[in-house]
Amino acid sequence: MISNPDSVYENLDIEIKLFLEAIYLKYGYDFRNYSKAHLKRRVLHRLNLTDVESISEMQYKVLHDPDFMKEVMKDFSINVTEMFRDPPFYQALRNEVVPILRTYPFIKIWHAGCSTGEEVYSMAILLDEEGLLDRTQIYATDYNQLVLEQARQASYSLDHEKEFEMNYVKSGGKKALSDYYSRSEEEFRFADYLRRKVVFSDHNLVLDNVFAEVHMVICRNVLIYFNRELQSRVIKLFHESIITGGILALGNKETLDYSSFADAFEPLNKKQKIYLKKYSYNY
Ligand SMILES: C[S@@+](CC[C@H](N)C(=O)[O-])C[C@H]1O[C@@H](n2cnc3c(N)ncnc32)[C@H](O)[C@@H]1O
Repeated sequence: MISNPDSVYENLDIEIKLFLEAIYLKYGYDFRNYSKAHLKRRVLHRLNLTDVESISEMQYKVLHDPDFMKEVMKDFSINVTEMFRDPPFYQALRNEVVPILRTYPFIKIWHAGCSTGEEVYSMAILLDEEGLLDRTQIYATDYNQLVLEQARQASYSLDHEKEFEMNYVKSGGKKALSDYYSRSEEEFRFADYLRRKVVFSDHNLVLDNVFAEVHMVICRNVLIYFNRELQSRVIKLFHESIITGGILALGNKETLDYSSFADAFEPLNKKQKIYLKKYSYNY
């Protein structure tokens, strides 16, 4: 039976699928397993801003105009982040995770989906205050080159200074956040000794493989943009990357529940979505 050709919603789904397929084939970015609701919102947002009538026309444009693809990339990657975001999460890190990390002579931490780096420098400061930074290597990855470049600069607008300071205090910070940066007229920049501890690299959680063997993976507010199948694949990737007894930290709207790897982790702090890896599988 041929379905109703005027069914707007069905056509919308088809057009979005074809649009994503075109992006994948032309540019290698694979958004096909991102959450449907997120994609629909972002594609319709771009349609509103673009001088075209339909998503099919956007598909033509994305194939022939790399600058338009840059705009689409910006639409798809939500880079919202902040220093010491969700302060109770950082309290849990200090009280429950640091004692575990302390047992390792050398610590490797992977921030996946690090955006512009605020989360990473927050971690570096926390580790410094707990006396662990010297023996830690932090890897921070994202698939978006633009945010990685900003993260490497470690410079942030003074507009956010107060909000970041407040988060820091609420998270259990032991000094003043301003002790860790120098200020110019418009920006503040984190100290070299913090920046030297971080290697920023391009890594796509959809397409790339295990990044490194680490004691802890932090991947917050990234899985929410993926569908369940892709979430499961990414959790498997983290499982393969974390040493037995190591730690996985997700965002507070994210869960391991739908992953086939859920039983390979046990909660360390359920509310803050911090887990311990119980054992390894033979893949
Ligand atoms: C909302 S930000 C979260 C930043 C930070 N983790 C936090 O919680 O504040 C989501 C980040 O995930 C990144 N991201 C989305 N899809 C990705 C993928 N397939 N591989 C790597 N990073 C991805 C985006 O570029 C963005 O920087």
